[in-house]
Amino acid sequence: MPGKIVINCALPYANNSIHIGHLAGAYLPGDIFHRFNQISGRDSIFICGTDEFGTPIALQAEKEGKTPKEIVDKYYREFNQTFTDMDIKFDYFGRTTDKKHEQFVQNFFEDLEKKGYLERRMAESAFCPREKRFLPDRYVNGKCPNCGYESARGDQCDECGRTNDPKDLINPVCALCGGPAEFRETIHIFFKFSEFSGFLKEWLESKKDWRANVKSFPLNIIEGGLRDLAITRDMEWGVKLKEKGMEGKRIYVWFEALLGYLSNAMEYSEKSGNKELWKEYYDDGETYYFLGKDNIFFHTIFLPAMHQASGKYPLPYRVTGNEYLRFKGQKFSKSRGIGFTVNDVLQLVDKDSLRYYISSILPETSDSDFSSEEMKEKVNSELSGKYGNLLNRVVTFARNKNVLPIKRESDQADIELIVKMEKFREDYSALMGKIEFRKALSLWLDSVKTVNSYFNDAKPWDLIKADKKITESKLWHILKAVEYLTLAIFPFVPSGADRAWKSIHGSSIENVNFSHLAETCEFTPSESAIIFRKLEIVDEPENQMNLIVGKITFAEYHPNADSLLHLKIDLGSHEIDLVAGIRNYYTLEELKGKRIIVVENLKHAKIRGIESQGMLLAAQDSKGAHLLTTNEKEGTPVTIGGIKCNTDRKIDLDTLKIYEMRADEVDGKIVPTAIIGRNRLSLMAGNKNVEVDGNVEQKSIIR
Ligand code: MF3
Ligand code: ZN
Repeated sequence: MPGKIVINCALPYANNSIHIGHLAGAYLPGDIFHRFNQISGRDSIFICGTDEFGTPIALQAEKEGKTPKEIVDKYYREFNQTFTDMDIKFDYFGRTTDKKHEQFVQNFFEDLEKKGYLERRMAESAFCPREKRFLPDRYVNGKCPNCGYESARGDQCDECGRTNDPKDLINPVCALCGGPAEFRETIHIFFKFSEFSGFLKEWLESKKDWRANVKSFPLNIIEGGLRDLAITRDMEWGVKLKEKGMEGKRIYVWFEALLGYLSNAMEYSEKSGNKELWKEYYDDGETYYFLGKDNIFFHTIFLPAMHQASGKYPLPYRVTGNEYLRFKGQKFSKSRGIGFTVNDVLQLVDKDSLRYYISSILPETSDSDFSSEEMKEKVNSELSGKYGNLLNRVVTFARNKNVLPIKRESDQADIELIVKMEKFREDYSALMGKIEFRKALSLWLDSVKTVNSYFNDAKPWDLIKADKKITESKLWHILKAVEYLTLAIFPFVPSGADRAWKSIHGSSIENVNFSHLAETCEFTPSESAIIFRKLEIVDEPENQMNLIVGKITFAEYHPNADSLLHLKIDLGSHEIDLVAGIRNYYTLEELKGKRIIVVENLKHAKIRGIESQGMLLAAQDSKGAHLLTTNEKEGTPVTIGGIKCNTDRKIDLDTLKIYEMRADEVDGKIVPTAIIGRNRLSLMAGNKNVEVDGNVEQKSIIR
């Protein structure tokens, strides 16, 4: 008898809406697996919660003039709604600010202390002399020593993914005041992590059936040597240490959040009335973790070392680190303004369509691209076009011709059909068990085609003229095959599968599992309803601005106007003339050679005798105009968060207003942004943010 299962998904930070990338990396796969266990008759619990402490949230609160608590409360509520809207159904969804979690963490900490795995050491920490405080992790920005990215954070570089220490950064600055950071000695508690290298290496190597990415990455890190890790921070917002003299310190957020899996499972047990329940799942069962690849280190090295050190909790049975879902070639990132939140997409499509599409492109072994055109195409031709259509035809036939499905003698073809479906169920289950959901889904689609052909070849509409009894029995077998398909699609599209089940049984699919398939059940095909609608409008939001990088090759004062300049701009393929009103803010010398952003498809206009063949973009604040600039080559298209101009039309000035362009803060930096669809996204030249020349005030209008 296989043991019970705990399914954990990386606890989402409660400071940003859940986006499609998170869904694909952690929550949807977790939910699929949970529901797969349900239909397989295997007992599993699905546990998650918000990750509410740590510097990102504290920093955000400080910037927005709110308390951290206000921020996390808002997102805790929002996440519950988003997960409900997406049919992601946790058995328990807790929070790391829960008192019980804090206590659990403090006890765990004390326990490691007793076992001798913690050590006090003086360490250099970043300090801001102006703010008179220590600066943990994200409170420090600077240049990444690894890839040279200018706005790397103290904890991690978003460009190359390297985990940094504030001390590693080149030119570290305080994220609060922008001034240079200093380093001062202070005491911290370290987890003797390095002692676990040998153990972790052996353990990881023993995981023969894990995906390559969750083994090679940590093994490489171990190869490079594990450093002991400071697990305290100088800050307010976090789990307190009980020890005297440590009042100002808090427990490092990762150390504490990773224990949220256990504390949430315990809380779930408590609420279910059996305090010890979690042990049945942890001790004798299997623990699964679903997460994006940026969390692999923490789950394959840090968490196992912590569990091992405690000696009380089992190591992960399987860690599934998914690659990234990209949007137009870039990693989804709310903070960088790339891609959509789940709520945005749910304004355009229903949850079943979204779940189906993401399932079909899950980034299991390599990054994959989300595209709304592909979503429409797949949903319409597969989910709705093949499976929905099959259901509809079978049910309609039964109703219209008044055929009651009844099992009588199975003929050879019927037997073969059921044998095929049984084989499908086995292969599908094997793949699902190995967390190869994409492959399982494509097997499902093959089987839909098989059943469709069977229905076509059986020609029940002809058969019924010859023999009603045989037709009834045929129909029963076809419906049996449809049951296989419906149960198998349930983990992916639970609401749709429920509607489908109701259309053949009149009752819900909840609590039905594969053992039902062996029953000679009755069917009651109901009034035909369209179970899966076709998607109509999932078009990409319109971007009518053809923005392009241009290099100023010539600048002179406009001969007929005091405040204007006449510029010549090289757009890579050709040169244009522009008239611009920035004469009071830049000298002619400053302008020459500068790379700027031009609206290329603006209707040409003669301005005081010179034809302006476009417009340059600048942010205007109380002090003056700041050109948008970039280092990218002239001719490089500039997109709004990856969305290119998708019209050939010439536009006028009023059209520009639709996009509400302005300078806004993204990841601690003020960058040009625009509204498209429902989102405010960054202007991008190639893979980089466009920049604003000089220090511009936030929310300055760009035109
Ligand atoms: N909050 C982290 C993220 O969103 C994940 C934390 S997983 C945990 O990337 F287990 F540590 F909570
Ligand atoms: Zn880097």
